[in-house]
Formats: sequence, structure tokens, C-alpha cells
Amino acid sequence: MALQVALHQKLRIDLRRIDREMKRIVKYDNDVPPGSELEQALLQTIEAGGKRLRPMLVLVGSRFGSRSNDQRIIQLAAAAEFIHTASLVHDDLIDRSPLRRGEPALHTRIGPAKALYVGNYMSARVVELLAQADEQPGGDRRSFTAVATAELCLGEYEQLAHAYDYDLSLEDYLLKSRHKTAHLMAVSLEFGARASGAPEEVCRRLYKFGEHLGLSFQIRDDLLDFTASAEHLGKPSGSDLLGGQVTLPVLYALEDDALADEIRRVGPDTRPEDIRPLLDKIRASGSLERAEAFCEAELERARDVGRSLSAYPAHEDLLTLADYFGGRTC
Ligand code: IPE
Ligand code: IPE
Ligand code: MG
Ligand code: MG
Repeated sequence: MALQVALHQKLRIDLRRIDREMKRIVKYDNDVPPGSELEQALLQTIEAGGKRLRPMLVLVGSRFGSRSNDQRIIQLAAAAEFIHTASLVHDDLIDRSPLRRGEPALHTRIGPAKALYVGNYMSARVVELLAQADEQPGGDRRSFTAVATAELCLGEYEQLAHAYDYDLSLEDYLLKSRHKTAHLMAVSLEFGARASGAPEEVCRRLYKFGEHLGLSFQIRDDLLDFTASAEHLGKPSGSDLLGGQVTLPVLYALEDDALADEIRRVGPDTRPEDIRPLLDKIRASGSLERAEAFCEAELERARDVGRSLSAYPAHEDLLTLADYFGGRTC
């Protein structure tokens, strides 16, 4: 929590503006009756918090152009968070994960079928909201919401398709992680910059920066499955391994024949208590350190891109982001 406060303060971002805009979108939505269960579900999901990283990326991206104060940028930032939040609603539903952001997940509160539609609604509504601006003459013809959502769904699909697939390649892991996590972060920066009129080359570099940053973020998240406490994670440690997620530390551990035999025995019927010794062995195998080094290398690539934009004062904010992502513990 302390880290979160430090990041938005370091970036001089007032997060209340984002939350206000998100709530405004719900309140002014004529299809959401005031006081309805749908409205409650949407507002509670917003109020449950989260670090608001993607809106912050939109705002940082916008600092590379001349129109960073446009209301349109705040709208884009709110849309990025809606897309992200919707993806978490769906992710928890699929993973049967009971908690999110320290609170009962939406499907725990209102049931899986309703949560599915609330998630769909959150991502679909913002497509409509931004459609008008996406059609600005001379602007980028690609739609932020469509570009962001399609790859995210692809990533989540790939993740399911590869459950308990111990022959997954490093390339497949990286592709899936880019799709489900890095891409949304990358387009948040890119489209924030576009909306404020930044030059095309700068927008492209910001995409690259966000892609490296996002990949490091997912690798760090995957490491937390081994390093963080259950209380911290909101789910038992080892949940990814138990759920068949072949993450980077697991991929490295699979290179050890003895460990590989044990990992390959983990399947849909394995119980949490069965994998405790295996978790310890993976922790002791050096795999976590290798994954950490990969994560650091991605952050260094991000910093290189950040430094290449040193003609812009906002490049300092990119370096601040990279440092924050490097020190992240939750
Ligand atoms: C969690 O993202 C999901 C991943 C992409 C790993 P965040 O850690 O940004 O989630 P919140 O929004 O802060 O809860
Ligand atoms: C991120 O992946 C989920 C999405 C990008 C939708 P995870 O499944 O690793 O996120 P957590 O660990 O549940 O927060
Ligand atoms: Mg998950
Ligand atoms: Mg995770």
C-alpha cells in the first residue's frame, strides 16, 4: 500500500480524478438503473481499489504530447482501468479465486453468471464511450478499447489452452504474458500519447517501453506465487502451480530432470497439501533467481527505451515507473 501511494505521488497524479471519472461513467449510464444490483456491483468493484497502474500509464503517456490536460485523457485512463478490472473479474471466475484486492471477488458476491455479464458489460460499455473519439479525422484509426481487449482475451485463452502443459516453450510463455498483461500496459502508454498529440515515433517507443514493463510485471507476479504469503496474495501460495500455470520459474525448474518428474505429476486432482514439498524444492533450485534476472533484464530494456526519449522531460516518469516495477512486492 505504501508503494502505491509513493508511485502516484512521485508521478504527481491525483488518482481521485480517475475514480471520479469511473464512477461518473457508471452514474451517467442510462442503461444502469440507479440503486440496481448492476450499479452496486459496478460501484463496489471500483471502490475495491487496486493500484490503478494502467490509468497512470495513460497519464504518463499523455505527457509526451501538448494536450495532456484534455478531459479525453482522463476518459481514456478510466477506460483502461475498466478493461483491466473486467479482465480480473473474468480471471477470478475462471480460476475460481475467491478473493480479489483483499475483498470477496465479484463472482463470490453475486454468483458466476452475473459476474460474467458484469465483466462483459464493463469492457463493452467503454468501447462505445470511446468510439466517437476513435473516429477523429486524421487520428489513429485503431480503437484503443478494441486493440486492448482483443489481445487480452487471446492471452487468457492461451493460458487456459496451456493448463498443465509441461511442454510449453519459453516463447509460448512470453507470448501469452505479452498478450494477457504487457499489451494493455503498452497501449495505455501509446494511446495516452496519441490522444495528447505526441509524434508517431514517440508513441511507438512508448508502446515498446510498456511492453517491456508489462512483461517484467507479469514475471514478477508469477514469482509472487512462490515468494509471497497467502495473506499477501489473497490465495494460497502455489495456486498457479496447482492450477496448471507453467510460469517462468516452473519452466526453469523443468530443466532439472528430478524436479521435472515431480512437476509433471501435478494435475487437476492434485491437492494443495501435496505440492508443499515441491514448492520448497522449486524455491531452492535457483529457478526463482533466474526468473528474477529475466524480469530485471526486461526492466533494463524498458529503461533503455525510456532514456532514448530524454529529449522529453516526461522520460523521467518512465524511469520512475521502471524503478517502481523493479521494487514491487505486491
Ligand atoms: C493484477 O494486476 C493482474 C496482473 C496483470 C498480474 P494489478 O496488480 O495491476 O492489479 P490491481 O489493479 O492493482 O488490483
Ligand atoms: C493476470 O494474470 C490476469 C489478467 C491479465 C487478466 P494472473 O492470473 O497472474 O493475475 P492474478 O495473479 O490472478 O492477479
Ligand atoms: Mg489469476
Ligand atoms: Mg498471478
